[in-house]
Amino acid sequence: MQTDSSFTFVLFGGTGDLSMRKILPALFEAHRAGGMLADSGKIVAVARHATDRGEYIQWVNEHVKPHVSKNGVDEAAWASFLERIEFVNIDLGKAEDFVHLRDAIKDLPGIRVFYLATGPSLFVPICHALASVGLNENSRIVLEKPLGYDLKSSNAINDAVGEIFAEEQIYRIDHYLGKEPVQNLLALRFGNALFEPLWRREWVESIQITIAEELGVEARGDFYDNTGALRDMVQNHLLQLLSIVAMEPPHSMDSDSVRDEKLRVLRALKPIDPRDIGKVAVRGQYHSGVIRGTAVPAYATEAGVRPDSTTETFVALKVEIENWRWAGVPFFLRTGKRLADRVAEIVVNFRAVPHSALGASALRAGANRLVIRLQPNETIRLYCLAKQPGEGMNLASVHLDLAFDQFFREGQMEAYQRLLLDVINGRLALFVRRDEQEAAWRWVEPILNEWKASNKPPKPYASGTWGPAASSAMLAQHGTCWLEEEN
Ligand code: BG6
Repeated sequence: MQTDSSFTFVLFGGTGDLSMRKILPALFEAHRAGGMLADSGKIVAVARHATDRGEYIQWVNEHVKPHVSKNGVDEAAWASFLERIEFVNIDLGKAEDFVHLRDAIKDLPGIRVFYLATGPSLFVPICHALASVGLNENSRIVLEKPLGYDLKSSNAINDAVGEIFAEEQIYRIDHYLGKEPVQNLLALRFGNALFEPLWRREWVESIQITIAEELGVEARGDFYDNTGALRDMVQNHLLQLLSIVAMEPPHSMDSDSVRDEKLRVLRALKPIDPRDIGKVAVRGQYHSGVIRGTAVPAYATEAGVRPDSTTETFVALKVEIENWRWAGVPFFLRTGKRLADRVAEIVVNFRAVPHSALGASALRAGANRLVIRLQPNETIRLYCLAKQPGEGMNLASVHLDLAFDQFFREGQMEAYQRLLLDVINGRLALFVRRDEQEAAWRWVEPILNEWKASNKPPKPYASGTWGPAASSAMLAQHGTCWLEEEN
């Protein structure tokens, strides 16, 4: 990918965790690869915890470099990357300080990207301050999640930002959309004639989408305790995956064609009736346990978490989509922290054959199933039935595997790298449009409200397991179970 689009990438929250772990390493990787970033492109870090460029560069060397050294740092590339970095020290709470930012970047060429890697409470003040010095022209703004706490607060942010930036200037990040395997899902569905005719209620019995983590809340206890898994993972990542799995083929891959189709899915989600919540939603909270041989503490004892917290660290849901393609097909979604394995995958369970001419063993052997593993190792596995060797007609489930790293050994790109390049190059397809975000909040909000109103604590589960038993029981009611295979 060659580019000549020059840019000034202004990074608010330049010494924050996200800048350290994701944003600066991704920009470095794009720089190192060569040809992806215009030579004249500059990174302007904005932070208060450093006084001048020298101190900031020292911070970058100490804190960012360790995150780029997976395959050993290319020292020459690192040195030339540092030359791209400028630094401005301003107090984000003081609009008048933004004059210094304007002066620092006014002569830099190309499109301006303002990346708000800050807490959401600063989004609106930063936008106002940028507008007050005319920096909202010829620019793009990148907003990190969480964008709001519910529909109302998300609308308030979007309204305020929308008064200053047009929708096509706003890039709302959902880093799952930048993951290579999620892109591949689009390729699988819309590049192959094989799957699409079967991708519907007539042939699909149920679909599961899991994002399971082994990690706990790490250093984010305070944030997480006010957020919970439904807001942190379901409202965004899981519903985005669901909309890609379930959407109609778009007319093209241009940003609005794809986002229009995803929006249709989000708007077709069957609203959850509060009276049914116990049947279609399970919330859990991790207790102490053992993960890969190491004892880990209970959520309620993590730093920053209230000891009597009722915040959920696990959610399982049964979701239905009210349209012709999917009517009656349950989509089971689940996500949780401190689970038995780190895995993100989509499982499409196909229906059994309508009549088994091959006898009882065919029925026992099950039906076709497609497992799309997004992480940790990207694979697609298609389960088929085959005859067992020997006498008689006994069937067994076997599988065809597609392991991506065997086909494509190079060129994998981290989600943030792809997304940042898209922002710089003005490609919006992988960013969440305001109406998608609203539709997602509208759907999850009744669940949040009902949980709050009922005042019931989440169900406990031991760390290192697959969550509360109620999650498996929910699927058992539909004659199915979660697919839990070893990595
Ligand atoms: C983030 C959540 O959006 O996604 C985190 O805030 C979560 O809580 C993370 O750990 C998971 O992302 P990934 O890419 O590691 O699966």
